[in-house]
Amino acid sequence: MPGTRYKTHVAKSASPLPFIQRQIVVMPSRRYKTYAIEGIVPVIHPTAFVHPDAVLIGDVVVGANCYVGPLASLRGDFSRVVLEDGCNVQDNCTLHTMPGFDVIVGRDGHIGHGVILHSAHIETNAMVGMNSVIMDRATIGESAIVAAMSFVKADAKIPAKHLVAGVPARVLRELTDDELAKKIAGTRLYHDLARRSLATLTAVEPLTTFDPDRKRLEVDRPMPILQRKMQKRSDKT
Ligand SMILES: CC(C)(COP(=O)(O)OP(=O)(O)OC[C@H]1O[C@@H](n2cnc3c(N)ncnc32)[C@H](O)[C@@H]1OP(=O)(O)O)[C@@H](O)C(=O)NCCC(=O)NCCS
Repeated sequence: MPGTRYKTHVAKSASPLPFIQRQIVVMPSRRYKTYAIEGIVPVIHPTAFVHPDAVLIGDVVVGANCYVGPLASLRGDFSRVVLEDGCNVQDNCTLHTMPGFDVIVGRDGHIGHGVILHSAHIETNAMVGMNSVIMDRATIGESAIVAAMSFVKADAKIPAKHLVAGVPARVLRELTDDELAKKIAGTRLYHDLARRSLATLTAVEPLTTFDPDRKRLEVDRPMPILQRKMQKRSDKT
């Protein structure tokens, strides 16, 4: 974190190249798992929340108000990984590159649980559904949605505001205004989660008993949109 002082000392090299001295930064517990490679250090904006169990290596840049979930791995050891402002990269995501082809997630990009982005470009406000794989040099257009469990081929160009799905992914149709609004509402929840996590997330020992009257989380639900969706489902049945 900016302003935090870490103890730094130069260790006797355990590197196979004896002339390279390894600099070890000793961090206080519950801090970031961030690593430099060849002197290139990850950058995290102070208003972003990066879970302490996420791993960031090398040329990684995390913008303002981003959320990076536990066990996400952002590896900038071949090229650059950029999260523009307001993105979320959820639990278990892997963002990696081949040399010379960056991963870029545009502003308010929404990257669901378990996604793999490999040298891909996700444009502003697009969403990639859970467990999808986006291959090298593919571009997901502005405000497009990739359905959960999709495989987007290398060099694919997904048009803005369209839904793609499948293995390999095919463009299905244009997104409706409701779907676009739902995406924006979902991303806002993650903006808020970044703030809430920065303010209150703490490592604790668990309790051993459940109190049925214990407090519940009070998170605003995007109700009108959910209600419309539930109505649609019940109309079908
Ligand atoms: C693709 C998606 C947007 C479709 O939502 P929807 O229009 O409400 O879809 P429905 O649930 O009404 O299903 C419509 C059809 O699409 C199919 N479908 C839904 N999701 C699918 C997916 N991921 N891949 C392939 N087909 C899918 C359904 O089986 C259904 O087919 P049918 O008409 O033959 O029965 C949604 O299923 C999805 O994948 N969302 C991603 C959510 C996510 O991962 N968010 C990130 C974490 S927060």
